Amino acid sequence: MTINEADYKAFANFETDAWVKLSEHYDTLAGQMTRQAVDAIMDAIEIRPGVEVLDVATGPGYVAAAAQHRGAKPIGVDFSPDMIADARLRFPTLTIEQGDAESLRYADASFDAVVCAFGMLHFPRPGKALAEAYRVLRPDGRHAFTVWCGPAKNKFFGMIGDIVLKHANPTVGLPTGPSQYMLSDPMVCAALMDAATFDDTRVQEVPCYFAAKSPSDVLAFLRKCALRAIYIVDRQSPEVRAKIEADLMDAGAKAIEQYSGRIPCPVLLTSGTKRTG
Ligand SMILES: C[S@@+](CC[C@H](N)C(=O)[O-])C[C@H]1O[C@@H](n2cnc3c(N)ncnc32)[C@H](O)[C@@H]1O
Repeated sequence: MTINEADYKAFANFETDAWVKLSEHYDTLAGQMTRQAVDAIMDAIEIRPGVEVLDVATGPGYVAAAAQHRGAKPIGVDFSPDMIADARLRFPTLTIEQGDAESLRYADASFDAVVCAFGMLHFPRPGKALAEAYRVLRPDGRHAFTVWCGPAKNKFFGMIGDIVLKHANPTVGLPTGPSQYMLSDPMVCAALMDAATFDDTRVQEVPCYFAAKSPSDVLAFLRKCALRAIYIVDRQSPEVRAKIEADLMDAGAKAIEQYSGRIPCPVLLTSGTKRTG
């Protein structure tokens, strides 16, 4: 498969537009899940007071805020003005800056730790973002990134994906980008870390769940927060959309019962060290 500059641009533009629309609902629908990984991320970068931390794709700023809470000196960076506005409102004492993960404006060796929580699959070139993380890290600096586990373990995203693909025609012009589960394989994460010349790579699973009181919470996630699925579903006929929504309400009700309102969506946490010399 060949991906040219135009494909990368189209995917980047799709992401830029999508994050403007999503910021309003992110905290209640996606943030309720991503926040569950924050403590494990703090452990993975061996957080301690005084260290300088860069939180790439900070979104509402959860990771940067946790680092600040532990006495570190974080900067959050994100490319979406709406997510930045949300982070600044939520955590007024944090430093949040605008920037692109694939082209950071910071000098080489500026940070003791770099984190990217659930950002990698939104970047057209995740390898480039990893190389940037490596560049801005000091020697012996720690890096950690998280992605979602694949559908075999991830009952929440698996359920949504199965239902959308059962009914929808997916060939509706969604720009080419990294597949949703490209990094859900520990071997792939480790290979990316190797390619970026990180050492001591570790890939671990972190439990996480989507808390739903009723199936309409699951439907709300599809409508308001599932970036690529929204794009596909919005381009189907009203009849197909109705089938997807009805099936999701049904499957959501069953999953809520089966998992007592906590539908599993485990996380893969990859971490490593920049060793020089
Ligand atoms: C799934 S959210 C993760 C937010 C937060 N880190 C968390 O754990 O909840 C992904 C974030 O990546 C940001 N993003 C996507 N592509 C980006 C890029 N190329 N550079 C910087 N931020 C980007 C989006 O604006 C969004 O805030």
